[in-house]
Amino acid sequence: MTKLKWGMIGGGEGSQIGPAHRLGAGLDGLFTFTAGALDHRPDEGRDYGIRLGLDADRAYGSWQDMLAGEKARDDRVDLVTVATPNSTHFEITKAFLEAGFHVLCEKPMTMTVEEGEAIVEVAKKTGSICAVNYGYTGYSLVRHMRAMVARGDIGKVRLVKAEFAHGHHADATDADNPRVRWRYDPAQAGVSAQFADCGIHALHMASFVTGQEVTKLSADTVSCIPVRTLEDDAMVNFRMDGGAVGRLWTSSVAIGRQHGLTIQVFGETGGLRWAQEQPNQLYYMPLNARLQIIERGEGNLSPEADRTSRVTVGHAEGMPLAFANIYGDLAEAINARKEGRVMDPAANLYPRAEDGLRSMAAVFAVAESGKADGQWLDARPPMFR
Ligand code: NAI
Repeated sequence: MTKLKWGMIGGGEGSQIGPAHRLGAGLDGLFTFTAGALDHRPDEGRDYGIRLGLDADRAYGSWQDMLAGEKARDDRVDLVTVATPNSTHFEITKAFLEAGFHVLCEKPMTMTVEEGEAIVEVAKKTGSICAVNYGYTGYSLVRHMRAMVARGDIGKVRLVKAEFAHGHHADATDADNPRVRWRYDPAQAGVSAQFADCGIHALHMASFVTGQEVTKLSADTVSCIPVRTLEDDAMVNFRMDGGAVGRLWTSSVAIGRQHGLTIQVFGETGGLRWAQEQPNQLYYMPLNARLQIIERGEGNLSPEADRTSRVTVGHAEGMPLAFANIYGDLAEAINARKEGRVMDPAANLYPRAEDGLRSMAAVFAVAESGKADGQWLDARPPMFR
């Protein structure tokens, strides 16, 4: 594969998710960090970019400068990651797609369903890749779980149970802290807080693992800390287009839980369980047989798992390596286009703009249903009805 050039917007010094992207993109030597507009403060962004090894003329002060600068070059970046705050994703992603760049956008892809549809349309029109960073789908055993479901190891899926419940905003005395408060303020966060931030990872993972899309949902949303306008806890029941019944719990007040992302799938002949905090084990419960624990790194699990496992069985792999697998998929997709060949199907798993759009429709359905006492609502974006 050709080594590709990679650029990043956001992810400046001290940001939460910037380092995981830099680790993920650099890990396999598939991308060279070539350009960036890393901070909303131009000088800090340029300075940090240079300290990270960017050439001075490609350490940009703003994304607009980066767009103009990279567009004008013959050796422009092959992929741009957008890791800025949510409300800026739409404008930046759309502008780079329109200029013919491939984009990996952080979640949530947009703030509204209409913006999500516009991104899907632009990506279709320009032929550029628009991926969305549901990065936890990069874990090797999540991919194996998907492969097991697809090849029928647990039979037809009856139930999927997804959770993303943590306890990091549980302290009522800290609710007024500006770093926490904005997340529950509709003016800054939009129509949903906890579901839009964490619940969409769990909902996307339910679709990823089962291969089914969400059709309708009913949500019970609450603000356990009463000063909050938006929800800090939600229970969402949903239905999927292949007949699966879904249950999802997301919370930011579940004291004692850390990251709290888990996914369980129950079919006619078996069950599967994976938890992100123990990502190297997948629990497989065949009907009328003993529990089996599948270890990441065991040989010949599935092409999807084998491709995404790096270190020997028994040694831990974690979150930046999951992100690296998303970057690995994208490198394969971009190189296949450059070389005019079909991409490896085991790599064709990166989450798409369509997934980002489906999440936005679900966010709005959860917010509406929560206000309407759990009324069942269509969860699909108008474009996919
Ligand atoms: P953060 O607030 O820690 O960092 C944001 C960074 O973007 C800062 O360096 C800031 O200076 C920079 N920035 C802001 N506006 C900019 C602009 N116009 N141009 C260039 N740089 C700009 O935020 P955090 O937590 O890193 O989140 C960023 C995004 O990543 C969010 O959309 C969030 O939802 C998402 N995220 C995704 C995760 C995942 O698992 N996929 C996990 C954590 C965050």
